[in-house]
Amino acid sequence: MDLVCHSPKLVHRSSLTRHKQEIKESKDLTKIEQIYKDLVPTAPESKEVCKVTFPDGKIIELPILLGTLGPPMIDVRNLYGKSGYFTFDPGFTNTGSCVSQITYIDGEKGELLYRGYKIQDIAENCDFIETCYLLLYGELPSVEDKKKFDDEIKHEMLVHDKLISFYKGFQSGAHPMAILVGVVGALSSFMYDGLDIEDPIQREYAAIKLIAKMPMIAAISFRTAMGLPIIYPRNDLTYTENFLYMMFADPMDKDWQVDKLLADVLDKILILHADHEQNASTATVRIAGSSLANPFACIAAGIASLWGPMHGGANEAVLNMLDEIQIKENIPSTIDLIKDKKFRLMGFGHRVYKNFDPRAGIMRTLCHKVLKHIGSEDDQFLELSMELEKCALEDKYFVDRKLYPNVDYYSGIVLKAIGIPKDMFTVIFALARSIGWISQWREMISEKMIKIGRPRQLYVGQKERKFMNIADRKDNFKELTSIFKVKKGKKGFTIYNP
Ligand code: ACO
Repeated sequence: MDLVCHSPKLVHRSSLTRHKQEIKESKDLTKIEQIYKDLVPTAPESKEVCKVTFPDGKIIELPILLGTLGPPMIDVRNLYGKSGYFTFDPGFTNTGSCVSQITYIDGEKGELLYRGYKIQDIAENCDFIETCYLLLYGELPSVEDKKKFDDEIKHEMLVHDKLISFYKGFQSGAHPMAILVGVVGALSSFMYDGLDIEDPIQREYAAIKLIAKMPMIAAISFRTAMGLPIIYPRNDLTYTENFLYMMFADPMDKDWQVDKLLADVLDKILILHADHEQNASTATVRIAGSSLANPFACIAAGIASLWGPMHGGANEAVLNMLDEIQIKENIPSTIDLIKDKKFRLMGFGHRVYKNFDPRAGIMRTLCHKVLKHIGSEDDQFLELSMELEKCALEDKYFVDRKLYPNVDYYSGIVLKAIGIPKDMFTVIFALARSIGWISQWREMISEKMIKIGRPRQLYVGQKERKFMNIADRKDNFKELTSIFKVKKGKKGFTIYNP
């Protein structure tokens, strides 16, 4: 790890210069250029068309696109020009927004592939660093490649000391996700000047810096919230061991050791969450990136999108739900409330998986492994969640709607057993997903023609109408405006109450 104190810009530039120098020295420039080229997907040529008939009898032909896997897509890029019609698809349930060669999901089969490899094989045989390499570069690393990549990540693990002072500004007890969104966004202010997103080498550097710094950024979010001193990463620990070390080590205890099994389980959790094609947060990163915003700002946008309970926040919501259910006897009434649409069964259901989520099965195995390791095989949450899962899977409501446990149904129980507090669950998800986000951002930004993300809308508001002067307008929202009454203090000062 390079501890020499430079200005952030200098640190960044010196690393880049070193990297470029290494590339020149390796005399392998063409090979590297080829790798970057291979990482840019292109839309396939259309070999078939479909015909669409409009109400006025007009017929137009639309190209059909075939990927390597997955259903064919109708190419509607020229639809408006040819017909004067747009397509309507809230939530993008049927709409492809990009070409990609990173991750593939078959929702019917319950299959997930990272760069063509089954998630089960990756989780069984690789560690998170290999997974990052695979997602970023498209191939699994050799022993030598892995070592180089690992060294590169370790070299960048420390965050600038100034970044640490950002944490002091947050309210004690703030949600760590709130801190994470802010601090990752703030990374832009350290690297904006030194980042040319048109240069593939600099894009790669942004990726390495992000992956490397996320464990320390996430761990400090936890330690500052707890009032604990910051712990710095160590060269002799792996990526995931370093994260656990920075989270939990006691600086007064020189014999403090990372529990290897817990680190291994957490490493698998990171692999399972590493990428998931065009989910809400990844789509957010791509949309933000399509305006050519810097990658750290785009990742901060992705973190914000991940936070909600319908997406990455589900892991925390599952434990909150189990907390409320408390005992098995309350399960039938809970299921009734869910069926009455009073709330959703958290950790259940998925936009793409309609059979099972392959990550959920691996997560359940990890759950048993970690609980056995810590001697909590009769964990009340595990028992409760297994019973709830069984009841839901036997119920017509869930069967008819093809609702199955997703990755986050069991992840909270595993994380809790590792000792991670509930409000850090989604932070861990963000830490893991950063590699997916940055790989997808890099894929998008490498394309020759970047299209800014800008959907259409079906406007159902007022048609154009005559302007009305203020004196002639009615009091439409009396009740609403009374809520926003400005409060005045004793001496007439406005009281700000955020
Ligand atoms: N509990 C109860 N009912 C559900 C659930 C659920 N968890 N999920 C979907 N449904 C019902 C809906 O009410 C709807 O019923 P209806 O046909 O009677 O109106 C039907 O199933 C279809 O639901 P949609 O909301 O249209 O499905 P969509 O694909 O848009 O939503 C989502 C997917 C957001 C994941 C949803 O299943 C959900 O809210 N799950 C709970 C939250 C959760 O676990 N999120 C994590 C997802 S995985 C991840 O991001 C890591």
